[in-house]
Amino acid sequence: MVSTKAKTGIGMAGRVFQQIQRVIDDTGGQSGTTIRVLQQAQGLVGYLPPPVLKTISRDLKIPLSEVYGIVSFYSFFTMVPKGKYVIQVCMGTSCYVKGGQRIIDTLKKDIRLEPGGITPDGKFSLETVRCLGCCGLSPVIAIGDDVHRKVKPSELKSILSSYR
Ligand code: FES
Repeated sequence: MVSTKAKTGIGMAGRVFQQIQRVIDDTGGQSGTTIRVLQQAQGLVGYLPPPVLKTISRDLKIPLSEVYGIVSFYSFFTMVPKGKYVIQVCMGTSCYVKGGQRIIDTLKKDIRLEPGGITPDGKFSLETVRCLGCCGLSPVIAIGDDVHRKVKPSELKSILSSYR
């Protein structure tokens, strides 16, 4: 017997692939539409897992290696799921010197979040970045559109709790 959860999961995936198929059909097989299709697929799924890339490669009739090449070239594409809120910890020189690594270590220890990872509830994912443009106020982190300056590791729990 198939559980309701499993049925729902298969149904959702099927619907998403149907929507991606519609996006591909809308392009009419024209060349130069790969980026648009990838953007719309990422909008639907939230990221670009290998089965989605294989579908796009097959249906647009372009080599899978080319699809992977595009996805890895443009930073706005991601092959890993992102959280509702993306935490960016600045690891540029100024922030690194002023404690960027301690922020990463605290996130690892307190909420088991590593760079490139996502919390089990899908709320937060973590990335490191090179400079957020306010080096004089380091260490700096960004959560979504919010920039937090002079962050102390001890403040992280309370900062994150305001996003829950
Ligand atoms: S080095 Fe972190 S904001 Fe510039």
